[in-house]
Formats: sequence, structure tokens, C-alpha cells
Amino acid sequence: MEFHVYENAQKACEAAAILIAAQITSKSDCILGLATGSTPLPVYEKLVEWYKNGVLDFSDVRSFNLDEYIGIDHKNPLSYHAFMQENLFDHVNIVPENTHVPDGDMTGEEYDASIRAAGGIDIQLLGIGKNGHIGFNEPADAFTYGTHVTDLTQSTIDANSRFFESIDDVPRQAISMGIGSIMEARRVILVATGKDKAEAVYKMMKEPVTPHVPASVLQLHPDCIILVDEAAASLMK
Ligand code: F6R
Repeated sequence: MEFHVYENAQKACEAAAILIAAQITSKSDCILGLATGSTPLPVYEKLVEWYKNGVLDFSDVRSFNLDEYIGIDHKNPLSYHAFMQENLFDHVNIVPENTHVPDGDMTGEEYDASIRAAGGIDIQLLGIGKNGHIGFNEPADAFTYGTHVTDLTQSTIDANSRFFESIDDVPRQAISMGIGSIMEARRVILVATGKDKAEAVYKMMKEPVTPHVPASVLQLHPDCIILVDEAAASLMK
């Protein structure tokens, strides 16, 4: 794993955006694996800025998102479908049919088959949960290979309650790409920012690979780049 520390979140996210932009520039019909959440917002802002400046062209790009809540309509502003529209897809020239976000109406096998049929993910963007989750692969006794429906842990429900009016409104289930689906991406970039993520970053990097810290599996990925700010790197010193 490559590990890079930046002085702040904006710079870590800009580094991630540069890697994605480089991928699009070198292969215009590349397949992006995309994440939602607070962490990648500045990544998407940069990509939109570069598209608006005429530097990036998304017309042949295809994308597959990591995950989506179960039981939330796509039009609900808190859905990951809506998140992607609002923060990226509505602002660039990506073809709507080329964007894919999983949902409870498809099976995990169908989603994985569509990723494979498209040629596989060239570059997968990830955040990390405070409990070490990637996508919604929560800590467990074993890794889950393919896209699957999963119960969210209390730590994730608590973390995501900041977006909802009450904690009772937070969905209890999600559909998520599995660890196998993520590990099949040709390149993985994980962005972690803020001191809340310091422990997860430390465990991902320094502890033995374990499904109890799902991100630790990235130690085995042949092309994985971890981009963090100083706060998220604080336990690494
Ligand atoms: C989102 C996702 C999650 C988030 C993680 C961190 O698509 O897959 O694993 O990356 O929960 O979320 P933030 O960035 O909001 O701290």
C-alpha cells in the first residue's frame, strides 16, 4: 500500500481527484468505482471544476457506486442515488445510462455481473468508516465476496444519523459491493480525513488483515493508495 499524508482534508481529496482525472485522461472510457459520504465531497467538487474548465470529459466514462441504503427511494435526497446526482452526475457530461448505483431491486449477482460485463473497475474510490468498514462491509467474522445486502452496525447507524432527522430514520440495511468486488478493482484509492478516522487508519495499515477491520484487506491489494490528512494519520507516528 502506498500511504500519503497531506496537511489537510482538501489537499488529500485533491490528490484523489488528480488520480481519478489521470485515469479518465489516460482511458476515456474507463470504469470508475465511486463512494458517497462526507469524505469524497471535495473530490467531486474538484472533478466538477475541472470538467467545467474543459480539462475533463466524462462522455465515455462509466461508473459503479459502492452501495445504497435499502428502503429509501432513489428520489429521497438522503439516498446515495440522489447524492451522486447532486454532487457529481448533474454537473458533468456523464451519460446517465452509464452510471450505476446498486439498489434493493437487483440481486448482488446481477450488479457484479454488470461490473464484469463492463470490463471491471479501473479505479475504485473508497472512504473508511470509524469501525474500519469499506462500502458497507461491516466488521464480521468473515469477508463477504460479492455485492450483498447487509445489516448496518450500531456504529454506522450512529455515524450516519447526522444526515437524518432522527436516529430512528436511519435505514438498518444497505446493499454493498463485497470485499471481493472491491479487491477486483485494478486500482484502489482510499481517502480518510479527520481525527475520527485515525484509529481505523492505524488498524487498516498496521494490524494483521482481519474481517473485523474490513479495510485491512487492502494490505493485500497490488495497487492501493491511501490518502489521508494529518489528523487521520495522527496515530501512525
Ligand atoms: C459510502 C461508503 C462508506 C463511507 C464511510 C465513510 O459510499 O461506502 O463506506 O465511505 O462510511 O463515510 P464518511 O466519508 O461520511 O465519513
